[in-house]
Amino acid sequence: MPIVNFRKTDFLPAQEQGSALQKKLVITVDGPAASGKGTLAKKLAERLGYAYLDTGALYRAVAMATLEIGGDPNYFQDVQPALDIIKRNLTPELLASAALRTPEVSDAASKVAAIPEVRQALLDYQREFAENPPGLVGGAVLDGRDIGTVVCPDADIKFFITASVEERAKRRYTELSERHDDVTFERVLGDLKARDLRDATRAVAPTLAAEDAYILDTTGLNPSETLEEAIAVIRSRFLSETNDNALAAAKPPAPAQKTAL
Ligand code: CDP
Repeated sequence: MPIVNFRKTDFLPAQEQGSALQKKLVITVDGPAASGKGTLAKKLAERLGYAYLDTGALYRAVAMATLEIGGDPNYFQDVQPALDIIKRNLTPELLASAALRTPEVSDAASKVAAIPEVRQALLDYQREFAENPPGLVGGAVLDGRDIGTVVCPDADIKFFITASVEERAKRRYTELSERHDDVTFERVLGDLKARDLRDATRAVAPTLAAEDAYILDTTGLNPSETLEEAIAVIRSRFLSETNDNALAAAKPPAPAQKTAL
């Protein structure tokens, strides 16, 4: 059951609601490949009535266009024309397309994502989405690798999702084998490890948990259990904020300092 347009201000004492009323809440969900971050982020957005952005799909779209024009995803001069095309044609349909999910596009995505100019070019789009999410919504949920650290360092709630590499490979294998006959578990595991290493060791915006992120290990958790744990984190975070605010409001003012006569 979605909580319709749940807002941070719903939890604030009445006297504090005015100025905060316009502020959209931002939730970031980062983590390595197939950790379950996309599933969680989408479900969170649905439950809360927020807009959702899969930032990995931006890199995937640029990668797919680069491959389509015969470019090498490692070199900016090859990627630039694809980047220009994608920036002009970013639609929700493109970002949700199954064509972005092939192993070849996944591999190329992590190569274009290591190019600083590509990251810079996609930064404004992501920040604009977080600040002004489309539709009449109370906030936005973005998932990726660097959302809590680079794209939205001031986000209200940050999650970093992990799971063992075998568990992640099993999930990705199940997902891919539904659509492709030629996929093997060993190849999926090998691809995943290579991509994790590239994403975690690149010079710009590597996969990293923000210091203030809540780390959620989804090994052994199903998607609903993961969602419920995340919702519990959000509730307890807001409730403790509300309690802090209420405590501060209830405190008697500090006595005025006595000055020597
Ligand atoms: O779904 P999965 O975790 O396999 O990948 P994804 O989130 O769609 O991201 C595909 C690739 O885009 C990753 O391997 C990263 O190299 C890159 N990416 C990134 O660098 N920064 C982001 N915020 C999101 C994705």
